[in-house]
Order: sequence, then C-alpha cells, then structure tokens
Amino acid sequence: MVRHAARIEEIIGDHIALKPAGKELLGLCPFHDDRRPSMYVSPRKQIYYCFVCAAGGDVFRFVENYHKMSAGEALRFLAQRYGVKLPDYRANDPARQQEASLREKMLAANSWAAEYFRANLVAPGGRPAMDYLRSRGLRDETIENFQLGFAPDNWTGMVQAAARCGIADESLLAVGLLKRRTDGSPFDVFRNRVIFPILDPSDHIIGFGGRILPAPSLPEESASSTANDPRPVNPKYLNSPETAIFSKRETLYGLHRARREIIRTGTAVIVEGYMDVIACHQSGATHVLATLGTALTERHVVLLRRFCNRLVLVFDNDEAGIRAVDRAIELLLPYPIDVCITHISEGKDPCDFCIARGGAAFAGLLAGAQDALEYKWEQLVGVLKAGGSLTRKQDASLAMLRLVAAAVLNERTDPIRRGLLEQNLAQRIGMPLEEVHRTIIRLGRTAPPSDRQAPTVDSLSEPSRRCDSGLLRAEQWILGSLLTDFSLYRQFSQDIDWKLFSPDRLAPLAAVLLAYLDGAADLTKCSLADFLANLQTPALVRAAVEAQTEAEGGNLKEKIADALALLKKVPGGGSEEPPPGETTDPPDPLADLLRRAQEAHRLGMNQRVLGPRILPEKR
Ligand code: UTP
Ligand code: MN
Repeated sequence: MVRHAARIEEIIGDHIALKPAGKELLGLCPFHDDRRPSMYVSPRKQIYYCFVCAAGGDVFRFVENYHKMSAGEALRFLAQRYGVKLPDYRANDPARQQEASLREKMLAANSWAAEYFRANLVAPGGRPAMDYLRSRGLRDETIENFQLGFAPDNWTGMVQAAARCGIADESLLAVGLLKRRTDGSPFDVFRNRVIFPILDPSDHIIGFGGRILPAPSLPEESASSTANDPRPVNPKYLNSPETAIFSKRETLYGLHRARREIIRTGTAVIVEGYMDVIACHQSGATHVLATLGTALTERHVVLLRRFCNRLVLVFDNDEAGIRAVDRAIELLLPYPIDVCITHISEGKDPCDFCIARGGAAFAGLLAGAQDALEYKWEQLVGVLKAGGSLTRKQDASLAMLRLVAAAVLNERTDPIRRGLLEQNLAQRIGMPLEEVHRTIIRLGRTAPPSDRQAPTVDSLSEPSRRCDSGLLRAEQWILGSLLTDFSLYRQFSQDIDWKLFSPDRLAPLAAVLLAYLDGAADLTKCSLADFLANLQTPALVRAAVEAQTEAEGGNLKEKIADALALLKKVPGGGSEEPPPGETTDPPDPLADLLRRAQEAHRLGMNQRVLGPRILPEKR
C-alpha cells in the first residue's frame, strides 16, 4: 500500500531542508513566504504542519498541494517513487485512459523525446555532437548523468520517430517540440542542436534547451544576428516554450542534481549557463545551478531559500555580467540570505575555468567570494579612485544609500535584517547610524508608493495562540488523547459530548472528531494523518495538531478522565476575558532594533549581540 511505503520526511525532504527539532523535523514552509522555519514534519505521525499558515495534512495532501496534482496523480507519483505497483485499470478501460491529465501527457511526451534525443546522440549520426561535447571537456559519464542528447539536422526526424512509436503529435505540439506549418503538417522545432533536458526537483523532464552545433570550419559567432536585426536568426540556444509544466522564471537548471549538496553545504552557487553547470558538477562542485538564460527572479529566491541560506553568484566580468549582478543584489538584499559575488577573470566562463584549472581552483574561487554589499562598495569606490573628486565620493555613498534604502524600505525585509543593512552601510560610508536611518526614512517618504509591496503573512502579527487557560488544556487533553490513540474512544464514547466544549475553543474540532469516530467501522484503522487529510479548514488542522501535541505522552486514559471531570464542573464552557496587559501595542521593532544597535555600538560589541548572523563577516 502506498500509504505505508511512503515516508513523508523523504517526500518533503526532497524539496525542503529539514532540520531535527525535538522529535520532529523543522523547515521553511513552501505554502507561504516563510522567513523562519515554521513547518513541522513528523516522521512518527507521518504528518506535516505549518504553525504560521496552518497548511497541514498527510503525505498525499503534501504532494497534491506542493505539486498541484490531483489525488490520482499524487497516488501514482508516490507509487512510482516507492516502487508500489498499482492495479492498472487504465490499460483495459479507454475512459480512464482519456482521464490521464494533460500534465501527465506532457511529461510523458518530454520523457519520450529525451530518450529520442539521447538515442540520436549515441547513434553514428550523433558523432559530431558527441565530438563537440567531448571537445568541451565533458566525460561520457557526465553526458549520461545530465541526460544530454542530440536533435539531428532534419525537419521531420522527431515527427517520423513519433509516428513509429505511436506517440501522438498533439502531445509533442503541446510541449513545443513540434510546430505546424501553415498547411497543418508538423515539423521538428529542435534541429541540429545539442539537447539539455531540464528537470524539476522530482526528476520530471519539464523542458529542453538546445545549443546550436558550431559548423566545423566557421567561427561560432557566424550563427548570430544580422546587421540591422539584433535578434539572432538562429539563436545559440533555443528553449522549450512556457507551458503548463514549464515556467522559466521558477526553474533552475541543475537543481535536481544539486539539491542534496545545496542542503548539505547550506549554499547554492549560481552560474549563467547550462554548460557551466555541467562542467562545475563534473569538477566536483555539485551545488551549482543556473537560471534559464533569464535574470534571477523572486520565485527562484523563494525556492532556494528552502534549501540554503547562502548564495554565491558567479558572473562574467563583462558589462552584461555586472548589470546582472546589480539586479540580483537589489532583488536579494531584502531576503534573509547571505549573498556573495565572485567572477572569473581571464575572460573565461565557469565551464572553461573548471575544465582548464580543475575543481580545486574553482572551489578556491568560491571560497574567496565577496559579500555583495562589500563588492558593490568596492566597485563604486573603484570608480571613485579613477576620478577621485569629493563629489564622486558623495555620489558613491548616495548610490549605496539608495541601494540599501530600497531594501530597508521594502516591507518584505524583516526588522533585524533592516538594522543590519543600515549598520553595514553606516560603517562603510562613515555616517552615523542614526543619520543613515533618518536619511533612509526621508528617501522612503519621497519614493513612489508603488514600489512598496503588500505585507506578507509573516509581517502580520502572530495570532495570540496561548490563551493559557486550564479549560483549553482540558479540552486539548481529551481530543488530543483520542487523536493519539483512537481506540480509547471505545471506553469514553458515552461520556464525551461535544457540548462539553466551548464554541470559543474546541467545540468545532470536537464535533468533527466525534463524528469521525462514530462513523469509523474499526477504530484501530483510524490515523491522525487520515483525520487531518479530511479536515476542511486550516483552523481545524491547526487545532487538531496543537491538541494532539499538547496531550501526547503519559497516561492518556487518566488525562481524559481528569479533563472530563474538570469540564463537567464548568457547564457550558464559555469564553474568558483576555488577561489584562495583553492588548497594548507591541513596541516598534525597528526603533527597538536601532536602539539596540546604537547601544551595542556604544559598548563596542559586534553584530552577534543583535540576533542571528545575517551578513557574513569580512574575511
Ligand atoms: P552562454 O552563451 O553563456 O551559454 O549563455 P553557455 O551555457 O555558457 O554555453 P557555451 O559555453 O557558450 O557553450 C548562458 C545561458 O543563457 C541562455 C542559456 O540558458 C545559456 O545557458 N541563452 C543563451 C539563451 O537562452 N539563448 C541564447 O541564445 C543564448
Ligand atoms: Mn559559456
């Protein structure tokens, strides 16, 4: 049975770095913009649960929500992952066959195509492509690992192969591997190109990149643009179009192979190209990935934050590279993630560098990466040294101030990060912290409001969860004990009535749980995971998990009996007043932080006293 074979910690661990926290595991929740880990995964209970957004359930619910799969797809996904054979009703039921979702058909088309490309690479006709890849320094094992392929120089190679294999043109058209001529006949999109399959973190092939094969005698550049049209006639790389299964702005090339090392090292290294990723991995740097020829997006950052807290950007030291770094720094500064920059001199890209100089040299380059703000400052000061005037220095300071201000004023930036950014800037430009802060606030008032973003879930105040009353505890003990050991209900079914519970507290949960237990044919088959998976609202999931956590351990029978005795003494439950003093507004966190920062500065302490280390120290 799939439910018994599947391990929730493995399935979630494929996508999120999980760290032990007591008996559970803790990681960043993928269902809201999580800043501090707030999602618990319980290997014992086989459930997950987020304390901030209250997403939760069993392994099936996770797969459905995370991969946006239907219940059937999630079942097949898990069955495949754990090698559980499902009865194949589809084979002899044409109606079911139709049902296979569009998404599955597209993935199947891509995976067939990847095999077609691979076969073409190793066939005699793929010789030039194979020679090219080897000439770039790739080993055969690497070519296999990255499932590289070759699209022959033929307008209908794939069309014909698909016909032979009984693959419908429609699905290949849907993923953009074929297109139609005006007369309706299909033709191959990728021709005479080395093929780089693009995989998602679950190893599905979601798209392809195709690199033009340089003509043996011509220099490579001959393939690009004509004089007055800057668009290349035959671009160096062609990528699959955006489809329901392929979105460039949220995909990172190489993530499926880099994930484990990124989690292990807490660091992801971002390079520019497919070839760079592959060569880096071959040289032993297996935490390297690349965007798909686009700028880094917020989606990428949110994705990567689940695996690591440090990014190293490796860029070409040309104008385009420097611009890309600038954009990346602006994007990344608000996030609680360390960002370091390194570039390869000698006019090389990481691929050439790794092949020519080897893995140790590349590792050295990464180790020497510079903190992003420091890098930016040195760059500005460099400009300044060349010109040397005082106004230039002010310009540089102002440029830094603007950069940091944008991050500080961004509502996504948390208060601690704001304080650290301001402090870092103050030290660098030699301005008192207070003045930096005032200037930034001034800049904020004059900035157009459209730059501001809506507050995120985290920036809203945490609901006051602990209404620390004995009555709540009693209600939790009863329901939580039942959720821990469902068979206890046999003994207590006569005594427990949902009307004993207060509508302000756990009456809704009690009503649902008792209905579930009354409806159960066999109490020993009930499970917390199953119960949670059937709950309709996040509030109920949250209440159930909290009750279960509160109750478990000790003698559950006694807990229920004691709690029942207490509740029966207080008929009707009824809500309580919040304790006095809890209604005052919390102090302004930024003001508080600044006060602490100034204090620390006065006392000569370093950043550590202020909270978690966010900006790396100077090396
Ligand atoms: P590069 O030109 O640096 O490619 O473009 P590369 O991967 O290093 O390949 P080699 O070393 O020249 O063989 C970087 C990335 O930009 C995207 C691709 O994702 C490429 O890997 N790109 C580039 C395109 O999408 N289209 C293009 O025409 C060029
Ligand atoms: Mn390159």
